[in-house]
Amino acid sequence: MAQQPARRVVLGVSGGIAAYKACEVLRRFTESGYDVTVVPTAAALEFVGAPTWAALSGKPVSADVWTDVHQVPHVRIGQSADLVVVVPATADLLAKAAHGLADDLLSNTLLTARCPVVFAPAMHTEMWEHPATVANVATLRSRGLVVVEPAEGRLTGKDTGKGRLPDPDEIFELAVHVLARGAAAPDLTGRHVVVSAGGTREYLDPVRFLGNRSSGLQGYALARAAAARGAEVTLVSANVSLPDPAGVTVTRVGTTAELRDAVVAGAATADAVVMAAAPADFRPTATSDHKIKKAADGSSPTIELTQNPDVLATISHDRARPGAVIVGFAAETGDETGSVLELATAKLARKGCDLLVVNDVSGGAVFGSPDNEAVILAADGARRAVPHGSKGALAEVIWDEVVARLD
Ligand code: CTP
Repeated sequence: MAQQPARRVVLGVSGGIAAYKACEVLRRFTESGYDVTVVPTAAALEFVGAPTWAALSGKPVSADVWTDVHQVPHVRIGQSADLVVVVPATADLLAKAAHGLADDLLSNTLLTARCPVVFAPAMHTEMWEHPATVANVATLRSRGLVVVEPAEGRLTGKDTGKGRLPDPDEIFELAVHVLARGAAAPDLTGRHVVVSAGGTREYLDPVRFLGNRSSGLQGYALARAAAARGAEVTLVSANVSLPDPAGVTVTRVGTTAELRDAVVAGAATADAVVMAAAPADFRPTATSDHKIKKAADGSSPTIELTQNPDVLATISHDRARPGAVIVGFAAETGDETGSVLELATAKLARKGCDLLVVNDVSGGAVFGSPDNEAVILAADGARRAVPHGSKGALAEVIWDEVVARLD
């Protein structure tokens, strides 16, 4: 079989201190077989020099339009790209792109590109929140470009706040999602979605808890895919040790009660809520504030349990935001009362959600695995089987089904 030509990626780099992190993004692309052309601005070269970009990309690097003019680089690079990703995008670069300025190779490339474009901004909070930047970001998003929300955290100086570049690996993952969607527009732009992920823990004492095997991988894949489709994403994460997906606001919770509070708060403004988390159904009625010791007489303690709130049923019945699409997951094994799909159909009706993603977990097949296989049941009677594939691929199908039901 003929080998497919490598996908062509333009990595734009503008002049911020986070330019050094773009080296990591470049490495991820080249190691994954992409053909990368780095287009830095002159200011970016003050932070990281051309030899670094040339060595890592295996190609010559230029910031201006006067090098190799006979090859018309100011037009050719943008025209022939499959994806342009700008890391970091400064306030100045966003302003130029929003207003169509073209005074160097990167701004020319952005004007000639007809492929998907991703900006990963990094700047101080004041610059990100300035009305000029806010308007420029809105303009770029309205044109179908993806502008990743910066992360919160330590900035260049001693200050902290919003404006930090997300994790380079996660920028790469998001960019690959955008590239895979090709010409499809980011169809969640302007939408707020809430995704829950992981498993809650209910403490018996300061060191012991009741928990479950949920890894959080499916919820994180959903959050990542939604961000790549342009959504404002709130990820309610219960006891997950995965890096924060790029462009996603992560709220960390421990127990089912904390998860419920975070999800209910998010659902007030959300266009969609996806409950991929596995909340513990029960908690110890009493939690000891000291470690429970073994009894001298060898007797074992009895743990009394209290049922936790059902978060999915609560938000489905409250419908805080009419028109929002609510999605649940059902991990079923089937039993003497019914098959996997029979039990799932009853659960869909009982919970009152719009879509139920059903996993057959006989044998613990799904937990911690990068893959998944599911059937999506809809309250409107539709049914869609999703063949075995990555959790990222299942996430895309779930968002397709959500988008089809948004008002
Ligand atoms: N769920 C929830 N709150 C709970 C338990 C579950 O919101 N306390 C959500 C899960 O996030 C998932 C869906 O409900 O989206 C189904 O989870 P599952 O564990 O299959 O359902 P249960 O209600 O626990 O049903 P079962 O009686 O089969 O244990």
